[in-house]
Amino acid sequence: MSTTFQLDTATSRANPTPAPMKRLTVPAIRARKVEGHTARPIVMLTAYTARMAQLLDEHCDMLLVGDSLGQVIYGLPSSVPVTLDMMIAHGAAVVRGSYHAVVVVDLPFGTYEASPEQAFASAARVLKETGCAAIKLEGGAAMAETVAFLVARGIPVIGHVGLTPQAVNVLGGYNARGRSDAEADKILGDARALADAGAFAIVIEGVVEPIAVAITQAVPCPTIGIGASAQCDGQVLVTDDMLGMFDRVPRFVKRYEAIAETISGAAARYADEVRDRSFPGPDQTYQPK
Ligand code: KIV
Repeated sequence: MSTTFQLDTATSRANPTPAPMKRLTVPAIRARKVEGHTARPIVMLTAYTARMAQLLDEHCDMLLVGDSLGQVIYGLPSSVPVTLDMMIAHGAAVVRGSYHAVVVVDLPFGTYEASPEQAFASAARVLKETGCAAIKLEGGAAMAETVAFLVARGIPVIGHVGLTPQAVNVLGGYNARGRSDAEADKILGDARALADAGAFAIVIEGVVEPIAVAITQAVPCPTIGIGASAQCDGQVLVTDDMLGMFDRVPRFVKRYEAIAETISGAAARYADEVRDRSFPGPDQTYQPK
C-alpha cells in the first residue's frame, strides 16, 4: 500500500524539508464561501510528484493530482488513457510531499461513470491508498446521483463542468464552452445539480466568462476557475503550464516563469562540460586520503 511509505526526512534529497504545519480540511475550504461571497480566494495548483508538492504546498489551499498528468508527465494524447493505478501512485507521492494543502485526486476516465457503486470502489481505493482528502470527477447533472452517493458514504467530491477534457471524443476538441444559450443553460444546470448533490467545490473550466460568474453566484459552494473568471471563488492552473514548461498552452494560461529555457540551458552547459572534460571537476570527484 503506497501510504506505507512516509517521506524520510533524513534521506530525502529535499532536505531540509518544509516544516510540518496543520493541514487544511475539506470543511474549511467549503466554509470559505459565506453567503455567496469568498473573501479570500482559494488557491489551487496541480502537483504530480512529492518534490513539486513540497514546493507548492505552503502557497496553496488545495493541490490537485489532475489526470492532466497523462499529457504533462506521460506524453499521452489526452487524459482518456490515464489509469487509476497511475493516479494512485502520483496521489500518494503528493500526499507524502505536502503537509498543509488539501490534496484532491482526479478519478480518471472509465473508473466512475458506469454507476455510483463503481465510483465508490474507485474513490475508496484512492482515499485509502493515497491518504488524500477528496476526489474530483468530471460531468454535471449526469453525475449528480454519483456525487450524492459518494458524499453520503464519506467521500468529499469536487465537480468539474464546462470543458471536461475526459469527454474530448464527444466534444471534438478543447474549445471554450457555453457560447450558445442552450449550452450556457446546460452548464449552469450541471453546476446547480452538482452543488445540490453535495459537491464541496466545483471546477469551472474553459467557459465564456458570464457563465462562470452566473454559476459562482448561483451555487453555495466555492467555484474554482480555469479559463473561467477572476470572479470565481478560487483559481486552478496546471503547474507545468504556468511555469512555462510547454510552448503550446491554452489561451487562459499565464506563464509565471520560463522554466523550459532554464532546463534546456542547464542541459546545454552540462553537455558542453562533459564534452570538454571540465565536468566532473575536483569538487565532484573522490581522491584517496
Ligand atoms: O486534470 C487537471 O489538471 C484538471 C485541471 C485542469 C482542473 O482537471
